[in-house]
Amino acid sequence: MTVFPKIILSLLAVLAAAGGHGLDRKLDKALRTEMKCVRTLVCKADSAGRLPRTTDPSGNLVLVGPHDWTSGFFPGILWELYGLTGDSTYRSQARKFTGMLYSVPEMKNTHDLGFMVFCSYGHQYAADRDEESKKAIIKAAESLYSRYDEKIGLIRSWDFGKWNYPVIIDNMMNLELLFEASEITRDFKYRQIAIDHADNTMRNHFREDFSSWHVVSYNSDGSIESKGTHQGYSDGSVWARGQAWGLYGYTLCYRYTRDPKYLSQARAIADFIISDPRIPSDHIPYWDYCAPDIPDAPRDVSAAAITASALLELCGYCPKDAGGRYREYSCSILASLCSPKYLSKPGRNAGFLLGHSTGNLPGGVEIDVPLVYADYYFLEAIGR
Ligand code: GLY
Repeated sequence: MTVFPKIILSLLAVLAAAGGHGLDRKLDKALRTEMKCVRTLVCKADSAGRLPRTTDPSGNLVLVGPHDWTSGFFPGILWELYGLTGDSTYRSQARKFTGMLYSVPEMKNTHDLGFMVFCSYGHQYAADRDEESKKAIIKAAESLYSRYDEKIGLIRSWDFGKWNYPVIIDNMMNLELLFEASEITRDFKYRQIAIDHADNTMRNHFREDFSSWHVVSYNSDGSIESKGTHQGYSDGSVWARGQAWGLYGYTLCYRYTRDPKYLSQARAIADFIISDPRIPSDHIPYWDYCAPDIPDAPRDVSAAAITASALLELCGYCPKDAGGRYREYSCSILASLCSPKYLSKPGRNAGFLLGHSTGNLPGGVEIDVPLVYADYYFLEAIGR
């Protein structure tokens, strides 16, 4: 069996950190499984001209168009596989599926451009430094900029619903694209709105224990209209994926700014997650920490994968003790995700690698299913 140099290096690093998890073999096996699984998805997506998102209640693959918020993750998976293996077949496939998103950067009716454009064109730019992806990132940053309100100091999330000016914790994930657009253009207006957004979210989205609300809505003068949830169990509950988005978001803010307040915020969120007694012993959270039917509540593997990836970045910014704890927790998540309970086999799960994620339980959709972004952040964590 061929083992690629980058895999060896990252797996040795993880093994050294992880002690008894035996993660090297487990992650190697997971990666090889993914290399088989992804063939099914490439084939089906290619012939449909659409992008994989999840499965329906009968277990059939659900494909979406480029304007769906998850469209960037499949090209992102192929870019991650290219980075992990150096196999140019993944690069051609990644470029092809990234190209399907050509009209996305112009979208001004969504805040999800970070997910869509940065996971696709962002990777392409990092790999190829080409004009096409550079233009896509700058165009998307302009579109996001159009959703920023100076008086409120935040980027608007949704254009639907009962709220005056809703901002969701997920929106922290768009800041990477804005920081990067400023690095590319040397125009610091994108970076400035990213910082404003991060600061105001830090001020208003977090409770005393550093758990977060999902949706905070603002009045037009910048005062708070409401704090609550849309995808969580209740307004006061702790929606698992929201905690993961916040952790990832403040970690990336520290990467780009080196401002210690973002590092403190990321660490406080990490400490909250790591010490929460409602998370089961395998570290894969229930979809909401306050779900009333725990221990029978569905899990959210996507929240676990995002957390694992974020912690592997965060640990590099922390003193040895704290960094070690974050790395250890991340490795425990990854070890669990490699177990047969969560990791699929080729030919199952419609081609996805991980099962047991929850997209939107209150909406009655995507409950205990594979989700393309769970696979994406799991592969990103392996790469890290
Ligand atoms: N941003 C959508 C979600 O996390 O479900």
